[in-house]
Amino acid sequence: MAVERILVVADEEAIRNIVCAILQHDSYQCIQARSAADALAILEKDHNFQLILSDLIMPEMDGVALLERVKQRQAELPVVLVTAVHDISIALAAIRKGAYDYLLKPFEREQLLAVVRRALETYRLRMENRLYQSNLEAKVRERTEELSSALAELERSYDSILRALGDALDLKDSETVGHSKRVTAFTIEIARAMGLAPDVIRMLARGAFLHDIGKMAIPDAILRKPGRLTEDEVARMREHSHIGYRMLKKIPFLSDVADIVYAHQEHWDGSGYPRGLRGEEIPLGARIFAVADTLDAITSDRPDRPARGVEAAVAEICKWSGRQFDPEVVQVFLQIPATVWECLHDDSDVQQECFRCGLQLSKELG
Ligand SMILES: [Fe+2]
Repeated sequence: MAVERILVVADEEAIRNIVCAILQHDSYQCIQARSAADALAILEKDHNFQLILSDLIMPEMDGVALLERVKQRQAELPVVLVTAVHDISIALAAIRKGAYDYLLKPFEREQLLAVVRRALETYRLRMENRLYQSNLEAKVRERTEELSSALAELERSYDSILRALGDALDLKDSETVGHSKRVTAFTIEIARAMGLAPDVIRMLARGAFLHDIGKMAIPDAILRKPGRLTEDEVARMREHSHIGYRMLKKIPFLSDVADIVYAHQEHWDGSGYPRGLRGEEIPLGARIFAVADTLDAITSDRPDRPARGVEAAVAEICKWSGRQFDPEVVQVFLQIPATVWECLHDDSDVQQECFRCGLQLSKELG
């Protein structure tokens, strides 16, 4: 064990010599300071002390002033003040200011050694505690970093699952190729303009991307039928919202997303399906999606009609505000310039937009 070092501060040389002789005899190493200023100068250069033993009454700067200066720099370093009986009230005040203890003059050798041992033991425990705490903090930091990287890895796995689901639907229903990604990018853009939090936006984006996933369970004869659907076929087709909901609800990280999928065909005025929800009964994500979906439907080529411009989509969405669409979502949508939507129609911009929101739908970016 390293030798414990004590700074002995007293203006009288005889006192310093006696104290140091006793302590050195007990294997402590002592450095002498003839005044508080002298002690501070020594402490400035040498930080390796475990205790200060100082006279209380000294000319110029006294022991209490020294104590205050020491506490500002090395709060843990114990200071024991040596005082005469008539100064005991000052010594008690010094303890309130952070002195470890005081020693009354004249003192016996054993009294000095006892107080020094206790002070050094306290200091050792404080240091051990500090070391333990900083090790603990480092450990917590390390574990937090490990956890964050595991979570990021998990998020990447989630997005791989989404991509696989999307790809599976694209194989079955060629009409959705590109549509899901564009609608996702449009949804992200509106959600961002509404000032929603990043994790909410990511959830909405997943909902938009998977909105038609229930079509996986619709027979090809209906899904790919070129002409008009019969009433029964329309009813069957409309089941896709509920089927999609049931598919996703069981997957823990997609359970909120499932609610959006369930409600993606609902209308603000209650005229949608499957449940005829109205107003704010419809999840916000589904209300934003509805605007994004119509925008994409009008501005993309369909088998039965060519694409129209963004202005036509804006006019249509305005016309149905308060009926099919949430008027507040429409208001935000109208503030976004048409050029943004025109750019987002381009595939690489769509990928970029999804990537910016943390949704890695592109294989190249993923
Ligand atoms: Fe749908």
